[in-house]
Amino acid sequence: MDAQEMARVMREEHEQVRSIAEELRRHTADAPITAEWVAEFGRQVRQFRDHLRSHFALEEQGGYLTCVVEERPQLADDVETLKRQHEEMNLRLDALAHEAGALTPENDPAVARCRTEVGALLAALAEHEALEDHLVLTVLNEDVGTIGH
Ligand SMILES: [Fe+2]
Ligand SMILES: [Fe+2]
Repeated sequence: MDAQEMARVMREEHEQVRSIAEELRRHTADAPITAEWVAEFGRQVRQFRDHLRSHFALEEQGGYLTCVVEERPQLADDVETLKRQHEEMNLRLDALAHEAGALTPENDPAVARCRTEVGALLAALAEHEALEDHLVLTVLNEDVGTIGH
């Protein structure tokens, strides 16, 4: 995968991630907490967890992170940070999906905990994706900068 192709794939992937994250953010902020809300919340959390798991795997195995390191070896530390964050987020998403799957509308502390965790995960994800976008742009810009030299 060359840098241009990598950037295109990442842009599309990140648009999908943003739209699924936005759907979850909106539902999480919704009220009142009914049996329907809880069922839909559980469904969305599972969908979000599954989608991110595939997204992270694609970034690691599909060549994006490898491409960044090959093009700019000095970014290897940032790539390691990103991989570590994938692992951490996968664990937190599994725990959240587990708790969300057992929620009842009456269990206020658990509902509150899940909502807080969704907010924290969305913030961590936004920061993570921004670093990835930044790395892609760094590689692309330096590619463009070296054309003809
Ligand atoms: Fe990632
Ligand atoms: Fe990503």
